[in-house]
Amino acid sequence: MPKRLLLDTDPGIDDSLAILLALASPELSLEGISVVHGNCSVEQAVTNALAVLELAGASHIPVARGCELPLVQPSLLAPETHGQSGLGYAKLPPPQRQPIRQHAVDFLIEKLLAAPGEYTVAAIGPLTNLALAMRKEPRIIPAIRELVIMGGAIRHPGNTTPLAEFNTYVDPHAAHIVFHAGAPITLVPLDVTYQCILTPADVARLLQIDSPLVRFIAEATRFYMEFHDSYQGIEGCVINDPLALALTFAPALCEYEEYFVDVDIQGGVSMGKTFADFYHMTEKPANMRVALNVHTREFITLFLERIERLAREL
Ligand code: RIB
Ligand code: CA
Repeated sequence: MPKRLLLDTDPGIDDSLAILLALASPELSLEGISVVHGNCSVEQAVTNALAVLELAGASHIPVARGCELPLVQPSLLAPETHGQSGLGYAKLPPPQRQPIRQHAVDFLIEKLLAAPGEYTVAAIGPLTNLALAMRKEPRIIPAIRELVIMGGAIRHPGNTTPLAEFNTYVDPHAAHIVFHAGAPITLVPLDVTYQCILTPADVARLLQIDSPLVRFIAEATRFYMEFHDSYQGIEGCVINDPLALALTFAPALCEYEEYFVDVDIQGGVSMGKTFADFYHMTEKPANMRVALNVHTREFITLFLERIERLAREL
């Protein structure tokens, strides 16, 4: 029986790869996408989500438009990383479909309350939608089967400030609400995602398949690789979100430790920084399990094989 999945996302290049991986994985039933601001505006991200679903022949999956601003912080988007369109150099036809009329916060609440204990939620953007949903309807918290969050940096440097990762930096207050709500969280921080680099050789392997989906990936990641090269001297691009998505159905790809994890909302130089209480100094119970080791080659191979299979099927 496939796992029922709700995806909260800011597509975004690596988000789009995560959407495709979800569609390529028979272990999952992707039953809804809630869109949030982050890599680009929520408006652009909704268009991107609809367009990527259409590219993959998955127009049946509902897309709900969510929050366009963080709870407290000013808006921060990432055009330098994902391009103005949010999809790098890729050009997709404008989507035929519209998002559903329901706001993403209400969509998440309705879906989770309708099937308590059944949905896995993957959150791969700033946590604004989820935080508001938890505040508006706390009953969704025990209804979540598992909450896999791509976000944070524990021992790893930040990718947005020297200390903070993008998703928790853009909306640290939302992350604080979600981290302390009591949901069963698996955190997928930069500590593991930065070991998952998609290389030009990996893309060349995919391009052996003559497919619009593969050409989309090549053009989207070409921009993303240029960013990683010029900003961080990385040959390739970090596929953060696909790793988090993969852990919803293949958790053995990582090793985990249970910790009390918090996020700085005091402001200043460490705003949005996530940290784990390794020595139990706070005497607070663990509020999540944290992925701190990853079987990189296994994951990259799984990703490539799934994308190849999807591309051949379309
Ligand atoms: O820091 C990486 C995360 O921020 C990824 O989810 C990326 O898509 C951006 O949302
Ligand atoms: Ca994302």
